[in-house]
Amino acid sequence: MEQFIMKGGKPLKGEVVIGGAKNAALGIIAGALLTDDNVTIENLPDVRDINVMLEALKEVGATVKRIDRHTAVINAADVQDVSIDDEYIRKIRASYYFIGALLGKYHKAIVPLPGGCAIGSRPIDQHIKGFRALGTNVEIKNGCVQAEAPDGLKAAHIYLDVVSVGATINIMLASVLAEGRTIVENVAKEPHIVDVANFLNSMGANIKGAGTDTIRIKGVKKLHGTTYAVIPDQIEAGTFMCAAAATRGDVLIKNVIPKHLESISAKLLEMGNTIYEYDEAIRVIGADVQHPTDVKTLPYPGFPTDMQPQMAVTLALAEGTSVVIESIFENRFKYVDELARMGSNIKVEGNVSVIDGVKGFTGASVNALDLRAGAALVIAGLCAEGITIVNEIGYIQRGYEHFDKKLQTLGADIAMVDSDRAIQKFKLRVG
Ligand code: UD1
Repeated sequence: MEQFIMKGGKPLKGEVVIGGAKNAALGIIAGALLTDDNVTIENLPDVRDINVMLEALKEVGATVKRIDRHTAVINAADVQDVSIDDEYIRKIRASYYFIGALLGKYHKAIVPLPGGCAIGSRPIDQHIKGFRALGTNVEIKNGCVQAEAPDGLKAAHIYLDVVSVGATINIMLASVLAEGRTIVENVAKEPHIVDVANFLNSMGANIKGAGTDTIRIKGVKKLHGTTYAVIPDQIEAGTFMCAAAATRGDVLIKNVIPKHLESISAKLLEMGNTIYEYDEAIRVIGADVQHPTDVKTLPYPGFPTDMQPQMAVTLALAEGTSVVIESIFENRFKYVDELARMGSNIKVEGNVSVIDGVKGFTGASVNALDLRAGAALVIAGLCAEGITIVNEIGYIQRGYEHFDKKLQTLGADIAMVDSDRAIQKFKLRVG
């Protein structure tokens, strides 16, 4: 089993380049099913979730050509199958985007119902509400969502009861080819919603209002091929921002859209760190003494839930008490027990955590419980005295490309190991 091993204590210094946004790319890959023409997607992150999503595309009969590590050409002209295998949905929840895309193009989809996951119950009732409003019969049978619109999809006026990234993207995918004008209210406004909408528009769709509370979609008869580059990953960038601040480093983070990082920058500034914004880069200089602050996760432009663990680790080394409220997922503080093994002082009550800053962490063997919690524990390990081993890094590899290598270029003593021998070798090297 692969693990990350690191010796903490070195401030991160240098430059790092951010890859394409995983969560945008997941919606875009499913969207490639909506045309029979070639779709070229550039700036794809080479991470596990994306590779599984591309495999799932092949499974339904699409061809996928990997031009290079970050570019794929997809052709869905020969798709025969409208059902996704259980294996894929188990590996990656976002394969629920196949429901919207298959429905949109073929008016039929059979996709296993995604189960719960480490961070909360994650229902998909809002997705289903949207599909039904568009004239689809949706049944849950034998663990699957079985959706069919025998007379085609018809535009509708949909109000989402919960602001949901997944439901917003799924409804866009289903309705771009529907007859008439669809209006979706109370939608999510995350940068990747805008990116998926821009991608679909580049295929000839007519989507307006992405990035606001209301999206208007005028159905078109057909979509055509496109070449599209995915936006930079807001969360990967934010993770390196926190890593720079927490290690008291100085890092220039390149290929970012600073506007997407404002909520993270604001918190790091409140803590006393220095931030310089450039057109496509952001520099974070960690202050020696950092102040506590309070954070509440909210839909965009609020503070992202996917940055909550990384920010909590940073706050756990500030001087004083911070409060973090998690308002998106009910179970996103499980990493706190792992962090406690490294000497943090955090109390959790429901969806609130009270973080009493400590002077430093000490190295330990900890488990990555999910993708972002795993990244947060790596940041903690880079700050800790001595050796930290992060286990179950498969979670981290779902969303971070070459996390260890990028950290190495910033001077971190970190390696990916898969045996006791490799661990001993690392320990000998770092002394
Ligand atoms: C997406 C992201 C995930 C991020 C999350 C919130 C992808 C692949 N994943 O997940 O990394 O943490 O947005 O920014 O893009 N909800 C319902 N009913 C629904 C759908 C959602 O009640 O039908 C609730 C959820 O339980 C949660 C909230 O709405 O409390 C937000 O969830 P949602 O935005 O849908 O998250 P995902 O799209 O699953």
